Amino acid sequence: MRRTHVVAALLVLAIGLLAAGCLSGTDQAATPDKVVGEVPVAAPDTEALPALDLTGDPVAGKAVFTGASSCGGCHTLADAGASGAVGPNLDESKPSNELVVTRVTKGQGGMPAFGEQLTPQQIADVAAYITQSTGG
Ligand code: HEC
Repeated sequence: MRRTHVVAALLVLAIGLLAAGCLSGTDQAATPDKVVGEVPVAAPDTEALPALDLTGDPVAGKAVFTGASSCGGCHTLADAGASGAVGPNLDESKPSNELVVTRVTKGQGGMPAFGEQLTPQQIADVAAYITQSTGG
């Protein structure tokens, strides 16, 4: 009598575990409903970065860098005589054309977005200037 009870209890336990396993399986579906934090973007959204389609003029770009945008107030760039220390030192970080266009257009953290103040051509120009003067 006692033995039957133990077997029955074990059976109930086993069925319970199986059911729990199935349920947690459906809980871990590949597409979460809620995402906490930032979703990494594999490729840049080139539609929102029109400057990527343009050919920049480094000479005009230097004027953008040293002009009203005051990039040099926050960034160090030897070629422009800039020694700002709020953002990354561009001589050292040597950003790619794509990174300059993305940051200047959209901003990030302490970096303001210039997508409204600068034209896509000016953004392409400043990117050409930075990549050329830093070898990035
Ligand atoms: C108010 C200060 C400020 C101004 C003005 C500013 N930046 Fe920035 N910039 C930052 C900060 C802070 C970051 C770092 C952002 C981050 O990575 O979160 C940054 C990041 C960048 C980066 C990416 C560098 C890297 O290696 O990650 C580039 C390129 C850049 N800025 C270019 C420019 C240009 C060009 C201008 C002018 C049109 C400009 N910035 C104006 C503060 C500034």
